[in-house]
Amino acid sequence: MTMRTRKLGTTGPKVSALGLGCMGMSPVYGDADRTESIATVHAALDAGMTLLDTGDFYAMGHNEMLIGEALRTAPAGLRERALTSVKFGALRDPAGGWGGGYDGRPVAVRNFAAYSLQRLGVDHIDVYRIARVDPDVPIEETVGAIAELIEKGYVRHIGLSEASAANIRRAAATAPIADLQIEYAIITRDIEREILPTTRELGIGITAYGVLSRGLISGHIARDRQFAATDFRAHSPRFQGENLQHNLDLVEALRKIAEQKGVSVAQIAFAWVLSRGEDIVPLVGARTRERLTEALGALDVTLDEADLTAIEEAVPADAAAGTRYPAAQMAHLGTEH
Ligand SMILES: NC(=O)c1ccc[n+]([C@@H]2O[C@H](COP(=O)([O-])OP(=O)(O)OC[C@H]3O[C@@H](n4cnc5c(N)ncnc54)[C@H](OP(=O)(O)O)[C@@H]3O)[C@@H](O)[C@H]2O)c1
Repeated sequence: MTMRTRKLGTTGPKVSALGLGCMGMSPVYGDADRTESIATVHAALDAGMTLLDTGDFYAMGHNEMLIGEALRTAPAGLRERALTSVKFGALRDPAGGWGGGYDGRPVAVRNFAAYSLQRLGVDHIDVYRIARVDPDVPIEETVGAIAELIEKGYVRHIGLSEASAANIRRAAATAPIADLQIEYAIITRDIEREILPTTRELGIGITAYGVLSRGLISGHIARDRQFAATDFRAHSPRFQGENLQHNLDLVEALRKIAEQKGVSVAQIAFAWVLSRGEDIVPLVGARTRERLTEALGALDVTLDEADLTAIEEAVPADAAAGTRYPAAQMAHLGTEH
């Protein structure tokens, strides 16, 4: 299989058109099977996926160590394909809490990077980004610290995550920015208003997460699905009570379109984000080879004008019930205020 590629912004690397988001391989959406997770990373590399996205705070280093193991055990030739995209900055606690906010001080950036390089077992990180802009540290200082890591050879490119348009501009005025990682999906179209025009003006790419809205629009969520208390979705407004039922009605409308095209709902969701522009690389949050294969099938789905109109009618912008994060986490999103 020949994987299509896209370039992350005008200054970033060429990457596979779909990236692998590894967060779900740590216990974020319930438990994941370690052996299957590693097999999924290997299968992704084998299929030509190059971009592996993680965060040092995903289960407190667990996710990076898992990727490190996957890279160490990858069949010959596959390891070299991998490009690592790493988020840092979230301050956790031993009980798994997120209450510490974010740390974007240069001294912290260097410290976070030192640990990530060890856990991943690599000599450089390909794209390095703070997960949320630290409100107490000017973005210029955080980005400047990553630029120094580039000079020393520890990082290749600078990324951003969930930054406001104003912070994107300030960051881009400080150093070249490869991409902005941000939520974008049929059901989550906030970035179309201000963020996407800004990144396009500045030549910054997008790595889109939440393309399935945490599985909500995958077509695989049953109406009576229960989530463990440790599962992100147990606390996500979109998965609660009437919101969930409303949102699953939208999924059924998408399913009709998918069935007419002989594809799955998840494939429609990935194909739609892929269709939004060559500057956008959707992240696939698969943690099993089966789900990965389904997602990769989206590369063969072409959406024509009639399909796009039908999707718009099935799920109009702002049709989702519930915000994409609980209120406390919404406060950290630069896009929302
Ligand atoms: N920058 C940020 O703030 C941020 C935030 C969140 C995530 N991310 C990144 O984005 C990546 C994607 O994560 P996400 O949660 O946003 O992904 P998502 O695609 O919205 O949801 C992933 C979930 O969808 C379910 N799913 C069902 N069918 C699937 C299929 N065919 N392929 C893939 N998943 C399928 C999976 O659960 P089952 O396995 O149970 O089916 C999976 O856990 C993460 O791994 C992370 O790297 C970044």
